[in-house]
Amino acid sequence: MIETNLIFPTPLWIQDDVGLDRDKLLKFVDVVRNEDPDGRVVSNNGGWQSHDFVDEVMKNNPLHELRSKILEMAYYCADKFGFQNYTLRIVNLWMNVNNHGHSNLIHNHPGSVMSGVYYLSVPDCCSGALNLYRDLNIQMMKEFWGAGNNFNKNSNLNEDVVTFSPVNDYMVMFPSWLLHSVSKSNSDGERISISFNIQAFSNYYHEIYPGKQSSRKILSF
Ligand SMILES: [Fe+2]
Repeated sequence: MIETNLIFPTPLWIQDDVGLDRDKLLKFVDVVRNEDPDGRVVSNNGGWQSHDFVDEVMKNNPLHELRSKILEMAYYCADKFGFQNYTLRIVNLWMNVNNHGHSNLIHNHPGSVMSGVYYLSVPDCCSGALNLYRDLNIQMMKEFWGAGNNFNKNSNLNEDVVTFSPVNDYMVMFPSWLLHSVSKSNSDGERISISFNIQAFSNYYHEIYPGKQSSRKILSF
């Protein structure tokens, strides 16, 4: 008997119907965008991206309900991931608006453990899927002479890309090391999402590094 074992699985967590007041959030995106129309350019190929919001600010602005939902889901995911006796912190959070022809290039998020996105307003069709990539160094399995079409590419043992089509009020999270991109939008509608990074701190950190005691306050929610 030959048994196939799928080792080292990669989690992609998806939460449907998060239940946020999207109208309120969309109005806030408008406010931020009007104040900073140039935004910044990081992975976005076109479109508008806000600068970062840090945790302390989000507690006191219209993002605070989203902040709570992110942490709620992030604690679920981190528990599943195996963290114990830890505190999570949203390192940064930013808004994205992609229009027709805009995309986000392949990248990952160094410096955090989990990353995610909340879909605030997504056109009905074709506004750009989230693509998640197998590590580029491991994509070589089917790269042998003559493979081409003579290869079953539908096995989860060899697939290189997994796509998720965004849905309003959905939130997804994944490990920050996972390479991802957003496909070019073919829609005339605006695709508005909010992305974020999360870091985990051991609750024993200050016992292990007593010199860092003064930063304990930062970790309390
Ligand atoms: Fe990203």
